Amino acid sequence: MKGINMNTSTTLRVGLDIGSSFISCAIAEKSNETDEMKLMGIGRAPSAGLKNGSVVHRDKLMDAIETAVKDAELMSGHKVDKAVLSISGVNIRSINTQGAIAIQKSQHSSMFVENEITENDVFRVMEMARALSLPPDRDIMHVLPQEYVIDTMDNIKDPVGMSGRRLEAKVHLITVPSTATKNLVNCAEEWGIQVEGLVFQGLASGLTSLDSDEKELGVALINIGGDTTEVVVYHNDGIRHSAVLGIGSKSITNDIAVMLQIGMSEAEDIKKKYASAKASMSSTELEFDLPVKNGGLARKVSEHELSRYVEARAQEILQLIAREIQRADIRERLTYGVVLTGGGAQLRNIVPLAQEILKMRVRLGIPKNLSGAVDIASNPEHTAVIGLLHWNDVKAELAPADSPTKPTVERAVNWLKTWIKGFY
Ligand SMILES: Nc1ncnc2c1ncn2[C@@H]1O[C@H](COP(=O)(O)OP(=O)(O)O)[C@@H](O)[C@H]1O
Ligand SMILES: [Mg+2]
Repeated sequence: MKGINMNTSTTLRVGLDIGSSFISCAIAEKSNETDEMKLMGIGRAPSAGLKNGSVVHRDKLMDAIETAVKDAELMSGHKVDKAVLSISGVNIRSINTQGAIAIQKSQHSSMFVENEITENDVFRVMEMARALSLPPDRDIMHVLPQEYVIDTMDNIKDPVGMSGRRLEAKVHLITVPSTATKNLVNCAEEWGIQVEGLVFQGLASGLTSLDSDEKELGVALINIGGDTTEVVVYHNDGIRHSAVLGIGSKSITNDIAVMLQIGMSEAEDIKKKYASAKASMSSTELEFDLPVKNGGLARKVSEHELSRYVEARAQEILQLIAREIQRADIRERLTYGVVLTGGGAQLRNIVPLAQEILKMRVRLGIPKNLSGAVDIASNPEHTAVIGLLHWNDVKAELAPADSPTKPTVERAVNWLKTWIKGFY
């Protein structure tokens, strides 16, 4: 296997999605000239050792990571030594906040000439925005700029080079329990993978499934996983609200298992094969056999009967999603409605049910702008892992706003350096 990518015109990108149902690893070659993202391999293993996004059993999680990574390595012919990881869980919290600074006068400017905003000013205002008194056991994972305000002028996307006296940054901040991130990063690093970044799963899913138009005019990305559902609301090219709901597609599997008195893995198969999110769109005549247990009687159930129960639970999940979208408090309507991603979005007929309940347009989100082994990844359940492949580009764009991996001291030193440079 190739340890270093010998071809200098491409960079190796690796995503490791730590989901509640699956651990997925994706390996891609990104062209430095054309920006093309060529998917080289994907590996997927049932998730283990996690609860609420936190590590509860290290060895089990490391085994799952190993399986996913090895499969992806085998398929791609590349060796993984670093990766961008995703994280989710109901303990993730987010808030909208802001910071403001006075723009320093340059030596040349007269009293009446306002001052030009530099990258350093953006760095300083971001430091103000993130200077929030958080409980000691929480870390800031993302600081995502929504807009800048210069004096009374709002809705500015890039303030560098503009003039003003006061610069304000409005940001969306996502926080995570420190232990959750530390343990996860330790697991990956112990396995020999250097962690280049840690990304909220809902954010990762949007990186590959949303258009810039959607983010501008308003869209809610809903990533339905096994144990959790992530909600991320975009408007005006920024994240206005995000949340993790503690319910996902496993609750549907659980209902099927209880209702039909079968095991979870049998219920999982039945859900994927026969369930519909809308009972009215499934047949009363099409019946399937239930697994026979201990010489018991053979039983048959119609797809319609199964789907009645499935619809009730899917409705509940969608109602919780609707409530969460309302919390975004966006006066303007979300022009592009809702994009559904995650394995749970693969439930048959979930789009018409979602349209009915959310009263918005709904589409399924799949990874876009990908070449190479596209076929295996062109479905909603791969959006998070493919999204992670794009993180380094996003991170570079966000800098200096979002640099959570840099310790505060290092950030302060960097800031000091740019500040001192400003004198010359
Ligand atoms: N075809 C399908 N129909 C219904 N549910 C599905 C289908 N495919 C996958 N799922 C469900 O999606 C969930 C896993 O989604 P995924 O996004 O991989 O989860 P996570 O990110 O939590 O690991 C599982 O509960 C699984 O049953
Ligand atoms: Mg997921």
